[in-house]
Amino acid sequence: MRRRRNRPEAREQTEGADRHSASAHRPVMVREVMEFLNVRPEGIYVDATVGAGGHSAEIAQRLGSGRLLGIDRDPQALQVAGEHLAPFREKLILMRGNFAEIDALHAASGLPPADGVVADLGMSSLQLGDRERGFSFSASGPLDMRMDPAGPVTAEEIVNRSRESELADLIQRWGQERHSRRIARAIVKARPIRTTTELVQVVMRAIPSRTGLHQIHPATRTFMALRIAVNRELENLEMFLSRVLRVLAPTGRLVILSFHSLEDRLVKRTFRAWEREGRAILLRRKAVRPSEDEIRQNPRARSARLRAVEKPGAEVKAGDGS
Ligand SMILES: C[S@@+](CC[C@H](N)C(=O)[O-])C[C@H]1O[C@@H](n2cnc3c(N)ncnc32)[C@H](O)[C@@H]1O
Repeated sequence: MRRRRNRPEAREQTEGADRHSASAHRPVMVREVMEFLNVRPEGIYVDATVGAGGHSAEIAQRLGSGRLLGIDRDPQALQVAGEHLAPFREKLILMRGNFAEIDALHAASGLPPADGVVADLGMSSLQLGDRERGFSFSASGPLDMRMDPAGPVTAEEIVNRSRESELADLIQRWGQERHSRRIARAIVKARPIRTTTELVQVVMRAIPSRTGLHQIHPATRTFMALRIAVNRELENLEMFLSRVLRVLAPTGRLVILSFHSLEDRLVKRTFRAWEREGRAILLRRKAVRPSEDEIRQNPRARSARLRAVEKPGAEVKAGDGS
């Protein structure tokens, strides 16, 4: 029996299709995210991945006296979010930072414990659409791929400095690419590689062409693997999960949208462990997927998986008068 390989990130899969269209900044699964967050007008909320501010705007609209903390590691995203969220300025705090440090960022905001935290993982359409950032295999740019431009490692450094076996492991692990060894060999032979276009050409020459209506671009998995490695995405998610419950108030909710099966698996396992330990209540046992309608209108939503938990309420102490 053939094992099903993990789905590549749909945001990347369809990158050529809608990069410049109005749907490029459309937030994914907004209705479902809002349903699970259950925003209360006086509540405190944290958007750990504010991006262009799509989900944040929906939260802010529902706030009265409540407050929203928006975090992103990308200063360009914060600038766009600041403009988009200008009508809600009084309710909003924007902070640059890595959600791996969610507890420290939340503490620095001075806000009380949160009634809801949302994280919409991966890269944004803004990042993908800016060729200078180097995320896109369909536009020529420098091999950068850092979400935080001050980050210590670029894709170019990984591509040109890693050993062949390291590259192969990385492309296999994060990209689930079955031709990882061939691609790594071809990269090492072609070095130095400086641009996205050069890398695409090397990958395309290295592997058999994939044909068929539903085939993804041959460089999809290699680009995804490099992006995940450059930004240490799984490590940061792990840190985030180890700290986020400290930020939540009793009955506070956590909603996570993931686009990669490794991320979703980590979220699923963590939530189940929390449930066993009595630290959280699963709001749904299975991941919630986008509707057919949303996928039709916004193909980037295709691989989204939403999971949500609630922190248990504070225990009523004996003699509380109840
Ligand atoms: C998919 S986008 C979010 C889009 C946003 N929900 C919206 O509706 O516009 C993900 C964002 O998370 C940011 N990001 C990814 N990893 C991060 C991390 N570890 N810490 C903080 N921000 C991160 C990226 O820079 C990007 O702007």
